[in-house]
Amino acid sequence: MTKPTVTLTDNLSGKSVELDVLSPTVGVKTIDIRKLQKELGYFTYDPGYLATASCSSSITYLDGDEGVLMYRGYPIEQLAERSSFLEVCYLLYYGELPSAERLQWYENVITHHTMLHEQVQYFYRGFRRDAHPMATMVGVVGALSAFYHDDLDIHDPAQRERSAHRLVAKMPTIASWSYRYSMGLPFNYPRNRLTYPEDFLHLMFAVPTEEYEIDPLMAKALDVILILHADHEQNASTSTVRLAGSSEANPFAAVAAGIASLWGPAHGGANEAVINMLREIERSDQPLEHWVKRAKDKDDRFRLMGFGHRVYKNYDPRAKIIRELANQILDRLPPGNPNQKLFDIARDLEQIALSDDYFKERGLYPNVDFYSGVIFLSMGIPVSMFTVMFALARTVGWISQWNEMMSDEHSRIGRPRQLYTGAAQRNYVPLGQR
Ligand code: SDX
Repeated sequence: MTKPTVTLTDNLSGKSVELDVLSPTVGVKTIDIRKLQKELGYFTYDPGYLATASCSSSITYLDGDEGVLMYRGYPIEQLAERSSFLEVCYLLYYGELPSAERLQWYENVITHHTMLHEQVQYFYRGFRRDAHPMATMVGVVGALSAFYHDDLDIHDPAQRERSAHRLVAKMPTIASWSYRYSMGLPFNYPRNRLTYPEDFLHLMFAVPTEEYEIDPLMAKALDVILILHADHEQNASTSTVRLAGSSEANPFAAVAAGIASLWGPAHGGANEAVINMLREIERSDQPLEHWVKRAKDKDDRFRLMGFGHRVYKNYDPRAKIIRELANQILDRLPPGNPNQKLFDIARDLEQIALSDDYFKERGLYPNVDFYSGVIFLSMGIPVSMFTVMFALARTVGWISQWNEMMSDEHSRIGRPRQLYTGAAQRNYVPLGQR
């Protein structure tokens, strides 16, 4: 069978180079350009990496045109409906669905890594009470490596696995402590008898003076939201974790870099930006059409947060699932709940954008962030904690992608090149002659 290749010819020198075409299991073929500079003397140019595969991976596949998202080959719709977040964590890291015994083992391992070293709580005291929880997350997660000096050999699969377990297990405790500190509330400790989502709700909202009752619908909704956010191919924060980890930095430092990248409103910070946008619209006396017009105005930086996606130019499959979940929870809220007007604005905005040619022509549909904030609000989770929730869920994706990279014996430090547009060489001019 003929080996697939493409030939590139330089029309100035007439020189050509034949490049191999690499075929995926499913999706877009890629051209292997690794010998391009050596044989033809060129770099490639792709700011924002719109058409560049930074790595090969067997973890997550998404098709932006068809609205497909699969973790290890399993469609997100099936996992959201039938799996649990911890089972999905196992799947993402180990590559296969666990047997009943392995799942019980994994749940037990994660449960017994949820506590933090007592010294960690003193990190929080260094922050102002009104510090953004993402700031504390970046700081505390990055500092965690200080407690595991003897267990950070990134070339040892067992030590990589333990770091992965620690990060998945401890993120709910770290995240909840960020919230509790900002509220002046005492820190709660994990409860081993609770499930992962139940324990997070308890960590966040239990007060020492009374028993905390878990709302099963909220725990289930949280578990589904965590599944939907667990991984997403080579997005900005995952690529940050891979690049940081490629220097052989420890996994806690690499994940802290991922948290920092996720914080941006163009990425994971969008869920917080959506609610802030809806609140701005609610406070103004302008009709929704005014805001949609601003979003379309090239001279106006205002955008409809929660709309659009670099890859999904069709509906984000996660948005379809989370939209249904949001409607179930909203329909259960008592009439006159404080966020009702905000939720009505969200629904009306969605309808206007979905029927507007500007958005349809550009494939700008609501993404997962458009709806997640609505659910978090109804859970009593404050807006400042929304991106923390995203980071909590995405930690397993980051660490699974990091482990995949570190397991590759050919893995090398990532070091992109550039198109230099600065000054040509020139000589230094003494101060007196300038
Ligand atoms: C996440 O990568 C991932 O997988 C991310 C994520 C994950 O799980 O990791 O899915 C999570 O980050 C989801 C995206 C959350 N971000 C937002 O909701 C912020 C609002 N969206 C935009 O900032 C934007 O859509 C991006 C950043 C998401 C995508 O940007 P692109 O791919 O670089 O697209 P673009 O900025 O080039 O926009 C294309 C066109 C432009 O108009 P034209 O120049 O073609 O005329 O669409 C317009 C943009 O002006 N546009 C918008 C818009 N988003 C894009 N116009 C109005 N409102 C918007 N939200």
